[in-house]
Amino acid sequence: MSHVYLNGQWLPIEKAHVSVLDRGFIFGDGVYEVIPVYNRRVFALEAHLKRLDRSLAGIRLSPPLDAEQWQPIIARLVQETETDDSSIYIQITRGVAPRDHAFPANTQATVFAMAKPMTAVPEEWLSQGIKVVTHEDNRWLHCDLKTTALLANVLLRQYAVDHKAVECILIRDGFVTEGAASNIIVVHEEQLLFPPRNHLILPGITYDLVIELAKKHGIPFKEAPVTRSQLEEASELLMTSSTREIVPITEMDGKKVGAGVPGPLFRELLSLYQGLK
Ligand code: PDD
Repeated sequence: MSHVYLNGQWLPIEKAHVSVLDRGFIFGDGVYEVIPVYNRRVFALEAHLKRLDRSLAGIRLSPPLDAEQWQPIIARLVQETETDDSSIYIQITRGVAPRDHAFPANTQATVFAMAKPMTAVPEEWLSQGIKVVTHEDNRWLHCDLKTTALLANVLLRQYAVDHKAVECILIRDGFVTEGAASNIIVVHEEQLLFPPRNHLILPGITYDLVIELAKKHGIPFKEAPVTRSQLEEASELLMTSSTREIVPITEMDGKKVGAGVPGPLFRELLSLYQGLK
């Protein structure tokens, strides 16, 4: 039977409870990570744990566990889960304290981790591509931190679903930032354009790996601001995330992207990415 990890204990998920005063519940005061597992091997663990520490530093919370302490916890989650491909979810909050916005003194962080079977990307997403819509990026100015305070992302993803789309591409001051729960790569004039890593986007692990692949295989790319017109002129658009890998976008706001079918750079990058597993 699979268990989840909560503050040093291993429990069936129905027995794992946190207080209603947990600051994650009250304020969304916490950070998280989602780490893919392929064939019971954790993918890019070091990069994910490094980003977790970066998010913790960004919300001024000391890491409750280091990489060495995470190792056996993650290994047990991977081993106990029913499927060979899964994803590990880690959440750390500022802990339980009487409700007050400012940090509580001497409160222990809440540490939670679980594994979840990986849901395969639908075959038609890869063969036909997905639909997206665009929306103003109305989130806060620390989107580089992977915090659990995801209400804006939730509303934006729902906006996409309400418009029969899979994802919402966010635009801030005329420039592409990212998706509601993904990074976006734009193919413009035969070049991959990556919206720059700054406080406005999550530094995606998949995004980083695609940059490394482009470098290694001589695919022209640039990390640079991407305008709304470049987005509209794109010959291909790609969505990346740890749980969806690389997905081609073939329709945006009801209009075809490029030829309206998954393009050659998508196919090349997906096959290179699969080779990393
Ligand atoms: N989300 N940008 C945002 C806002 C995200 O939520 C995610 C991933 C990404 C892609 O990052 P990565 O390649 O490291 O997964 C970019 C995860 C999967 C989630 O919230 O479930």
